[in-house]
Amino acid sequence: MVFSQPTILVTGGAGYIGSHVVKVLQQQGYRVLILDNLVYGHRDVVETVLQAKLIVGDICDRKLLDRIFAIHDIKAVMHFAAYAYVGESVREPVKYYRNNVSGTVNLLEAMVAANVNKFVFSSTCATYGVPETVPISEALPQNPINPYGASKLMVERILEDFDKAYGLKSVCFRYFNAAGADPDGQLGEDHTPETHLIPLVLQTALGHRESISIFGTDYPTPDGTCVRDYIHVMDLAQAHILGLEHLLEGKNSETFNLGNGNGFSVRQVIDTAKQVTGQPINVVESDRRPGDPPILVGSHAKAKAMLGWQPQFAELKDILTHAWQWHLKRHGYAFTVATVQVASSESYQKEQILVRG
Ligand code: UFG
Repeated sequence: MVFSQPTILVTGGAGYIGSHVVKVLQQQGYRVLILDNLVYGHRDVVETVLQAKLIVGDICDRKLLDRIFAIHDIKAVMHFAAYAYVGESVREPVKYYRNNVSGTVNLLEAMVAANVNKFVFSSTCATYGVPETVPISEALPQNPINPYGASKLMVERILEDFDKAYGLKSVCFRYFNAAGADPDGQLGEDHTPETHLIPLVLQTALGHRESISIFGTDYPTPDGTCVRDYIHVMDLAQAHILGLEHLLEGKNSETFNLGNGNGFSVRQVIDTAKQVTGQPINVVESDRRPGDPPILVGSHAKAKAMLGWQPQFAELKDILTHAWQWHLKRHGYAFTVATVQVASSESYQKEQILVRG
């Protein structure tokens, strides 16, 4: 591999969003070091797909961080390592404040000590809480309603102070609902436990789950189910490259929403998944899940204007198709691919169909 660009430390690079960003960084010629404690990250993905240097360790380990910064000429840090289960954060806030906040302060302190002053941070639309209006712009008030969102907002505030005091420049990206997978089929979403709608719907299509529950059908939305802004993970990855370039060009700290600007309901997701997979998907209508705002849709006007970023995969069908390809490859052991002879008007054609094994 030829590296025409500087070295970037990517924490959480073995995870879902981090791994996609690492792939795009490498395509752009950046040398990448991954720091991941592998609590949720996947070693096999790093070793087989990314082939980046993996340091297995924790952002809370200051000695390790100091060693990494001493040995490697790191120009910037992209920070994905975090806990991100909203429900768990309510039950175990200490985990979120210790890792997402204390761990990040530890990392920032080590950066300041090593004179590394460029930082790309994964924040979240959960920092807005229940928004007063949609689409959500960066200027709306941030009132998180769970410790996960609060932990990310605290880091945003800390970054403002680190900029003023130590000149540490940052780009914060507030993601909406990250979804989809690498169109090449090499990377995708693989959480244990899985709580997100799209992977659960696809696991149901794969036959690994009996049914998918719709959490609430009485919301003030067109079909009564929650509306979310699903943003393709490859679009997120492209935005991170632009955010990094913004910092490498010596520009100021900024915060951007990253959403695709369109909202899709839970029912729309399930219906599209039925089309994409060609499989039946059993649905159970359940009670609302506590803490779910009815509608979350982001405006990405600022990212478009300042970074020139625009989602390339804004269609739900593309997001689900890529996610489905990945799920079939990673978890599709309930299926086998059968080659059958299919009659057409002119001749017999070979076509691949999926059958349950
Ligand atoms: N949903 C279901 N059934 C399920 C799972 C989810 O109906 O089995 C619904 C949820 O109620 C919600 C929508 O599908 O309306 C999306 O839910 P996800 O769990 O996939 O995603 P969230 O919107 O809860 O979470 C996302 C990010 C979080 C972020 C949060 C901000 O994953 O990191 O948005 O609200 F904090």
